[in-house]
Amino acid sequence: MNDNFLKACRGEAVDRTPVWIMRQAGRYLPQYMAVREKVSFLELCKTPELACEVTIQPVDYLDVDAAILFSDILIPLEPMGMELAFHENRGPVFANPVKNEADVARLRVPDPTVDLPFVLDAVRLLRKELDGRVPLIGFAGAPFTLATYLIEGGSSKTFFNTKKMMYTAPELYAALLDKITDCTLAYLKAQAEAGAQALQLFDSWAGVLGPDDFAAFALPYATRIIQGLKETGVPLIYFVNNGATLISLAETSGADVLGIDWRLDLDDAVRLTHGRVALQGNLDPCALLLPEDGLRKRVAKILAAGKKAKGHIFNLGHGILPQMPPEKARLLVELVHEMGSA
Ligand code: CP3
Repeated sequence: MNDNFLKACRGEAVDRTPVWIMRQAGRYLPQYMAVREKVSFLELCKTPELACEVTIQPVDYLDVDAAILFSDILIPLEPMGMELAFHENRGPVFANPVKNEADVARLRVPDPTVDLPFVLDAVRLLRKELDGRVPLIGFAGAPFTLATYLIEGGSSKTFFNTKKMMYTAPELYAALLDKITDCTLAYLKAQAEAGAQALQLFDSWAGVLGPDDFAAFALPYATRIIQGLKETGVPLIYFVNNGATLISLAETSGADVLGIDWRLDLDDAVRLTHGRVALQGNLDPCALLLPEDGLRKRVAKILAAGKKAKGHIFNLGHGILPQMPPEKARLLVELVHEMGSA
């Protein structure tokens, strides 16, 4: 098996720097759109054969060093009792957001084997289909990021309602986050048991918090999950998007790998984490549009910084955008493989 990705997670020597791309299965790929023409996004997530097919599409087309399970961070919130819909071009919507104690009390902590069997079936099917070609990454949303969707009822610009609950009803906020944390820990453990070989926790919105609030309202819950997963032996990647000012705090979570977005130089990320963790990242997703010589320079700089880290996994600093020509992603993977060989 090509296990450079798992070795890099653990800080072991690799023959070449591994690379994968966040959101590598998705709308920028015509082969994904062909599947999506036939089924809705939620049906795709809930049909293991189709989820498996679109997970493998970028492994075939891009030659990346890891596959990431096709699903969404919001999927486990449905069996918690929240009605989820994806509207074309408007993103996810929860029609009845969490507002008060009764809403929190009503939320269930799902049993993943009973309530999310399609995810675990997809993991098992993928391990069989991948047959050792590349490792499989499972994932979940981090509690703060999931809470923002439940409280705001969808995406947000200011996170007014989330911060209002944090500041004016801290006990309610803590009760909600405790439930989400229990749910997420059980969900990730189940993915590891089904065969996920690494796990990523996406804290896509934690960057809207200042350091003190991140330490009080986001990090403790993420840390509980990361510590709770240690018994599985599966490496964990904690990605705090827009987290340049939060990186030293995030390092205390005990994650094996920290995901770094593009707003921070990878050199600075190494310094801020004292070389104690492996790093993943961090090309600006739009920099794929640079002419090839410009892209080469960016890749070289990131690879050089990555050499100073405990381990380095090349990735974009956030998900690939739907407008991106797929051949740009393929060129990136080729360049990382060529330039990142030991
Ligand atoms: O990385 C992968 O290839 C695996 C698949 C994956 C998806 N979502 C598929 C998806 C992963 C890892 C996610 C995580 C996710 N989902 C995050 C964290 C990562 C990040 O980008 O910060 C977040 C915040 C979500 C929530 C979400 N899902 C939003 C806000 C949206 C709508 C906006 C958008 O990008 O369309 C989604 C939908 C979604 N999730 C799509 C895909 C491929 C598009 C749905 C479609 O096919 O129409």
